[in-house]
Amino acid sequence: MKNFREKKIKIGNLQIDFPFFLAPMAGVTDYAYRVIAKEFGAGVVYSEFVSAHGIIRENEKTLNMIKFSEFERPIGIQIFGDTPEVMESAARLVFEKFNPDLIDINYGCPVPKVTKKGAGSAALKDLCLMEDISEAVVKAVPSIPVTVKMRAGWNLNNIVSTQAGINLEKVGIKAITLHPRTTVQMYKGSANWELIKELKENVTIPVIGNGDIKNIEDIEKMFSMTKCDGIMIGRAALGNPWFFAQIKKFLNDQDYDKISLEERLDICLKHLDLLVQTHGEKIGANNMKKHFSWYFKGFEEASSFRKKFVLANNYSEMKDILSKF
Ligand SMILES: Cc1cc2nc3c(=O)[nH]c(=O)nc-3n(C[C@H](O)[C@H](O)[C@H](O)COP(=O)(O)O)c2cc1C
Repeated sequence: MKNFREKKIKIGNLQIDFPFFLAPMAGVTDYAYRVIAKEFGAGVVYSEFVSAHGIIRENEKTLNMIKFSEFERPIGIQIFGDTPEVMESAARLVFEKFNPDLIDINYGCPVPKVTKKGAGSAALKDLCLMEDISEAVVKAVPSIPVTVKMRAGWNLNNIVSTQAGINLEKVGIKAITLHPRTTVQMYKGSANWELIKELKENVTIPVIGNGDIKNIEDIEKMFSMTKCDGIMIGRAALGNPWFFAQIKKFLNDQDYDKISLEERLDICLKHLDLLVQTHGEKIGANNMKKHFSWYFKGFEEASSFRKKFVLANNYSEMKDILSKF
């Protein structure tokens, strides 16, 4: 009995009917991919992480990363930055210009380029700063929920997720996504789901579990082990946006068949079209190369097509390769 199948959650005033979240992924979850994931039923989608400094400078490229369509709602815009002042101004500007359903603060990025400047998961080393930043963002956008996505701590001697969660709830954060690896760990080892359980037991706001969901069975395992309120899926959704539709079928006790090659090709083509529409032919076609590899990962016979695809120079060459697949 899947007693979690009726799960619906509320983040502040935002009702989420299907609590399966597409993880923010830089270079991946742009408009094109979000639309496709949404069509397959993703409950909430997020922008890639966006620099608060870029936002307040009103850098055109940065602001373009935030644009979204009504179809994508509910959508979260994820921001990262190093000071309460910058984050507060950035959040206000995002709200005024784009009116997303929620703003998410990134306290999870482990990349040195970001943490060296005190942003992303660097905040896990300074819970007072994390509190100040979070409080400033909450105050900046009182009419929409502010959420946080974080790692478990900087390293294994500094696991802070539960304490951070308690502090964050007090300053008005409305939900927390926990990817229970440390910054130092990057993607090594496995996500420690016990920490999701511990966080859930210590806060009353929704906790969204994240990390190492690889297949449908893991969904059931994470819910039953951690009692989390929702689940966020990252790498398992790469080249696999229909995962959300499969989850829905699973929860309804329906078969979730493998997707056919024809459907896979159709989605790939649609993805390419959307990327070219949003970024123009050169960048769009180039961005599609990594997605193509993900869509056809594990298909032995695809390797020669993959090579051709990677070498393709433009949209029509790519379309031609897809049609001959
Ligand atoms: C290519 C890539 C880009 C990512 N970019 C972001 C990001 O912009 N913001 C963020 O909070 N996490 C980012 N992440 C981390 C994911 O959101 C997620 O927390 C992590 O992959 C663990 O979940 P998973 O095991 O389901 O992949 C990224 C992960 C990947 C693989």
